[in-house]
Amino acid sequence: MHWTLTLRPEFLASSAFSRPATSLPRRRSGRTARRLPRPRSKTTSATWASLSRWCLAKLLKRRSRAEAIKPRYDTQGFIPLIDSEGAKRVPGKPTKVGDAASALARAAFVVDEQYETPTQHHNPIELFATTAHWADGRLTVYDCTQAATLAKLALAGALQLDPSKVEVKSAYIGGAFGQKGMPKRQTALVARAAMLTGRPVKLVTPRGQVFHLAPYRPRSVHHVRLGADPGGGMTGLVYDVVQENTPGGMFRVDDYHEGVSRLYGIENYSGSGSDSYVDRQAPGNMRGTHPFAACFAVESAVDELAYKLGRDPLALRLANDTKIDPLTGHPFSARYLAECLKEGARRFGWHRRTHEPGSMRLPDGILVGWGLACGIFHASMGASDATLRVSADGTTRLVTGGHEMGQGIRTAIAATILQGLDIDPGKLEIVLGDTCAGPQPLTAGQWGTASVVPVTAKAVAQMKGAFEELAAGRQLRGNLHTRLARLKRPYLEVSASELAPGQNPAALQVMRRGGLAIAGPAYPEVTAMSYIAHFVELHIEPMTRRIRMPRAVSIADVGRVISPRTAMSQMYGGTVWGFSSALREGTEIDPRFAGYLNDDLADYVVAVNADIGEIHVGLLDRPDPAANSVGAKGMGELVMTGTAAAIANAVYHATGKRQRKLPIHVEDLL
Ligand code: MOS
Repeated sequence: MHWTLTLRPEFLASSAFSRPATSLPRRRSGRTARRLPRPRSKTTSATWASLSRWCLAKLLKRRSRAEAIKPRYDTQGFIPLIDSEGAKRVPGKPTKVGDAASALARAAFVVDEQYETPTQHHNPIELFATTAHWADGRLTVYDCTQAATLAKLALAGALQLDPSKVEVKSAYIGGAFGQKGMPKRQTALVARAAMLTGRPVKLVTPRGQVFHLAPYRPRSVHHVRLGADPGGGMTGLVYDVVQENTPGGMFRVDDYHEGVSRLYGIENYSGSGSDSYVDRQAPGNMRGTHPFAACFAVESAVDELAYKLGRDPLALRLANDTKIDPLTGHPFSARYLAECLKEGARRFGWHRRTHEPGSMRLPDGILVGWGLACGIFHASMGASDATLRVSADGTTRLVTGGHEMGQGIRTAIAATILQGLDIDPGKLEIVLGDTCAGPQPLTAGQWGTASVVPVTAKAVAQMKGAFEELAAGRQLRGNLHTRLARLKRPYLEVSASELAPGQNPAALQVMRRGGLAIAGPAYPEVTAMSYIAHFVELHIEPMTRRIRMPRAVSIADVGRVISPRTAMSQMYGGTVWGFSSALREGTEIDPRFAGYLNDDLADYVVAVNADIGEIHVGLLDRPDPAANSVGAKGMGELVMTGTAAAIANAVYHATGKRQRKLPIHVEDLL
């Protein structure tokens, strides 16, 4: 393979971005500053135009130096795909309990199959958007990030600025789903441009570039061997995963085992995995993360086992439920997966299903498939701080760490405050995603609400206590603002901190310094997970094999539901994305260049309204007091887990064709 490398002007000019801030050209004096033309208008394009003219001027001066370099290049092949020739595989750490190999050798029934999920990209409506402003030696960056403090520290490091001079604001994000978790390189470039020009600079990365810059769901290949005794008791699971990754990539292959090893009471579990290195950008978290792919594989295998046994897939799952975490031997905190299955089956009408593939049809010949699968996701939480102030002027302000990306974290916080305090909801301010106000830890892995609601509840309880103390037995009328005014106090303020069960108090310091201070799902005494059961009905045209989902029922156990409306919205979104992931979404990679072919929303196909009919979702709303003080567990990621298996299982039920590779296309069913 031959390569030619052309040094482009932008490449040379980019060295201007890597100098320390102390050598910044000053705008009002000095040689460099005179060369920087003043932008004609305040528009960002004018700013960019002046910036590029300035870069060009720098470039002309540097070209002679660059030309003095006489580089020699070695040619090297590259690896676009996990199955490309020469792909290097690096094993992860195994997850082992019992003796799964022996259990399989003794098993009366064994499913031994391979499943595959594709590379998929996030496509939130909001693209990567950054606006940077440099004034008086201070940098303020409005960035769409799920981790404002991480972004702040990364910017300070890249630009060699004192972190106290950098603030990042990310109050509302138009969809993130894991894509906006890690700091982005272009944020530093935008900030540097603002520093060089002395003007605010804004960049919205076009969608086509987002495909090439953002993390994505890695393609993964799953080898599942599931054994059962003659009565259908699952006795052993040997599960190996290969995923695409890059050296040092943060999406750990070991994490595929965290959820599925806890779906059933399987005493012998042997999990392994390896990264297959590709020469593309690093994959990362994408909604549902590892359990999305792992549940597709394992919950498909469970359906295959049901057919081998001649058992109803619902009855088989109920018979293998457990209250003990097979990995730790500790009890699960509240676990109502069986209740999700039973309630879902009731609402779906599962008892009317006939077991044989192809046995259900509409009068016009349309093939009907009814499938079910379970999902599971960790119920982690993080160390959190909150400060709550109620004022006599009618305002209330809560400051905590977290990010609103549409999941409803602000609504959950507001609900917690309004349930506990008689305040004016119209003047309630919730400060989130702003490093000026305090540390803003990564909001991801569905731990956001479960982390901020307990600390908010604690602050609310403290506020009540502070009021009682202040009133000292006097009976005062009116809401808290009126009462404060009567007591001639301008405000009352309380601060609270909260840890996960058994978490080391030092975690608070880690969080305040911008580190990750998340605990779970295996707490010292219990394991806390969230659970879901999906039931789907598919209609498949016998001739064209077009697949539509007229009906789906999903029931989740996420502990206490803090904000029913936003929680239901998460349920709808996850179900729709589950359909989309199973039947539509797949990133096409060009093996010649390791680039992405369908890098826009015209070619990267997602589900549309016509694909999906009635989605019925339900939440059990049973508190999990062992998970945290309010009994609420995460749910955002959970909803997608198990969806793809339910759909693939329904495809099998409709057609008799087992689909072990996503996305399932009509041509796979011909
Ligand atoms: Mo999560 S992967 O940040 O939706």
